[in-house]
Formats: sequence, C-alpha cells, structure tokens
Amino acid sequence: MQGAAPHMQIMAILKIARLGHPVLLRVAEPVSDPTAPDMQRLIADMVETLEDANGLGLAAPQVHRSLRLFIWRVGDAVAAIFNPDITPLDGPMAASFEGCLSIPGLRGEVSRPSRIAFRGLDAAGEPIAGTAEGLAARVMQHEYDHLEGVLYPMRMTDLSRLGFTEELARSQE
Ligand code: NI
Repeated sequence: MQGAAPHMQIMAILKIARLGHPVLLRVAEPVSDPTAPDMQRLIADMVETLEDANGLGLAAPQVHRSLRLFIWRVGDAVAAIFNPDITPLDGPMAASFEGCLSIPGLRGEVSRPSRIAFRGLDAAGEPIAGTAEGLAARVMQHEYDHLEGVLYPMRMTDLSRLGFTEELARSQE
C-alpha cells in the first residue's frame, strides 16, 4: 500500500485582501523565526495562492498576515524573503504599468528605480543579498511597498494612467 506519505501536506489557497481592507495600509511586523512551522506553512500557502492567481509576486499582508515576508517569481521558481531591505542603485527611473492582486482588473503606470540591491533572510532563515533590475526590481519594490502599507496607486503621479487592464489593452497601452 502506497498511502500516508510522510511529506504529505495540505496546502491552501488563501483569501487575498483587496483595496480598502485596512491590513493593506498597515506597516508589517518583522518575523523573528522564518523557520517556524507557521512561517513554512505560510510560504507554502502563499506560493499556492500566487500560482492560482497567476501573479508575479505576493506579500504576506495581502493574505491578511501583517508580517515582513514576500514571495516573487524567479523564472519557473518562486523565491521568498523575510525582513527585506531594498536600496535603489544608481541608474535611471523606469515607468511601467503595474497590476496588483489586491486591485484586480486595474493597471497603473508607476515610476521606480530600475536597479536595486536587496537583502534579507530566505525561507531557511539564512541571509541572502543580491541585486535586481528590470521587471524583477519592479516586482520586488512593489512587494516591499506592501510591507510598508503602500499600494501602487499611492505611487502614481498621473492618475490618468490608471485604467482597467482590458481597456488599456484595447487602446494599445
Ligand atoms: Ni500588489
């Protein structure tokens, strides 16, 4: 008989908080032990939720946990970072349209530094550091903002560049 695999784990698709929920405006708390079972389970559930929603990144406050943790896609994998620091590097600002799983159906143009350095703790609680540019830098800054209670429309300087994804696609944005 094959059943009862010891690694069997029930993962869950979590409910995503939408614009207007106060958890999205809160400054999230640092995580003292990323290796705690509760945090490992949270990562697994967030990965499941991200994949179900077909997103690029997801921050813990978006799933109603006000903690300094986000995940993001790196190629076919998903990386996690706890207690991140992000520093802009020299280089131009870049303007591009962003979406957010907490603001479904909409996109808006946001200008952000195009290159960043980051550091924090990985899912094993080990220090990680690196640099990112382009889309990865944008996603990481967007997710980091969630930990500070900032949503991308709060970064927009021209609200005429906010619209429904379908309409923007129709007008070739
Ligand atoms: Ni978002």
